[in-house]
Parts: sequence; structure tokens; C-alpha cells
Amino acid sequence: MSERNKELAARKAAEYDVAGMVVGLGTGSTADFAIRALGERVESEGLEVQCVPTSKSSADLGEKVGLDIQNLEDHPVVDLTIDGADEVAPNLDLIKGLGGALLREKIVAAASTREVIIVDPSKVVDRLGTRSPLPVEVVPFAWGLAQLRLMDICRRAELRRRDDGETFVTDNGNFILDCHFSDGMPDPAATERTINGIPGVVENGLFIGLTDIVVVGEDDGQCRVLERQGK
Ligand code: A5P
Repeated sequence: MSERNKELAARKAAEYDVAGMVVGLGTGSTADFAIRALGERVESEGLEVQCVPTSKSSADLGEKVGLDIQNLEDHPVVDLTIDGADEVAPNLDLIKGLGGALLREKIVAAASTREVIIVDPSKVVDRLGTRSPLPVEVVPFAWGLAQLRLMDICRRAELRRRDDGETFVTDNGNFILDCHFSDGMPDPAATERTINGIPGVVENGLFIGLTDIVVVGEDDGQCRVLERQGK
């Protein structure tokens, strides 16, 4: 899907009223567009915004575009977070973490009063686990055991590697196992709990009940805005 769709969704989300707020900065190529758009707004409108990044790369980009980068320790309540996703289900539950930042993304999402997800249309699915693997962050000591246990739940649990063949290491010093499902997950909430019960698993990329709004950048240049029902 084109960069144009991503930028469209990101620019729409960056239009939300953020004056005087603490804003969570997501991670990934779509979230990067939002960080840049926010930087432009802060500069042109002179907005007072404090930002909590979900990764080192988002912190670096935020600083580069002139955002005030803070930490979660000082701002444990985040007013609004804008982040990308790898899959969006009809009830707005998500898979995240192909970019490797799922742990901090999930913590910041849980700390956020409003979680806004920006995607291109290819990320919208009928069932989670059909398009993207599910990333699971594990402590390095336990990855072999975690892989074995995950194989009871999914078809294949693959240790993530970098392009140069070295093991991918997260910002938190952990490894990632990418779990492939044959036909998606029938009950993602149950899968989330089961996986987090495996010794050595730190967190997984299922975001259940955390999303408030999804902005989809459509091919016709419009944005489709989906809101969680019952909030
Ligand atoms: C980062 O860990 C991820 O959760 C990203 O938000 C997700 O992978 C979407 O990334 P892109 O916007 O690059 O597709």
C-alpha cells in the first residue's frame, strides 16, 4: 500500500486538538508521518505539547522535528497517542509490533486516555492473525522454552532476525518470536492471556480493547474514521 495512504491517515490524526496535552508518539513508518505532521503544527501554531515516545527511533525523530520529548515516568497519564498497526479487526482490536516496539507501545496505549490508530486499508482484516504474524517479546534466557510453548498455540514461532542475520534485539534488550497462525485467531483475547502466561514472555502484540479511534487513509484521498462502539 502506498505511502500516500499512510500520510493521509497520519495528517488527519495530527489535526486532533492537542494544545497543552501530553501526546504519545507511536512507532513505524505510518507513525513517523504523524510525528512529522505534529512537528509542523507545533512550529507553525506555537503549540505547547509534551511528547512520550514509544521507541528510541520515535524519540530521535521527535527531537529532530522539534518536539518536546519527555518520559512516561514523569507523565504516566497520556492524553492522546497516535500509533500505527499491523492488523485492525472489525471491533478495533489490533496486532502490533512488526516494527519491534510492541512493549512500549502497549504500555503507552494503556496509559492513554485516547488511542488513535492510523493505517492504510491493507491493514483492515476480518480476523486477527490472517495477514500478519503476532510478535511476542521474550527475555533472551527463555526464548527456547517460549518458542516450544508457543508452538502449542500457533503453526510456527520464528525468532526474529535482522537483515544481517543477527538476532533482532528490542529497545528493552529482549528478543521477538513472530507467531504465524494458519487461519487467524478465533479468540484473540484468550490468546493474549495464554501467551502472556508463558514463562519468559514479556508481552505480546495483541492490543485488546485499547483502541478508541482508527483512521484509515483510503485510495480516493478520503479518510474513514472508525470509533470503538460502546465507549
Ligand atoms: C511497531 O512496533 C509497530 O507496532 C508498528 O506500529 C506497526 O508495525 C505498523 O508499522 P508501519 O506503519 O510501518 O506499517
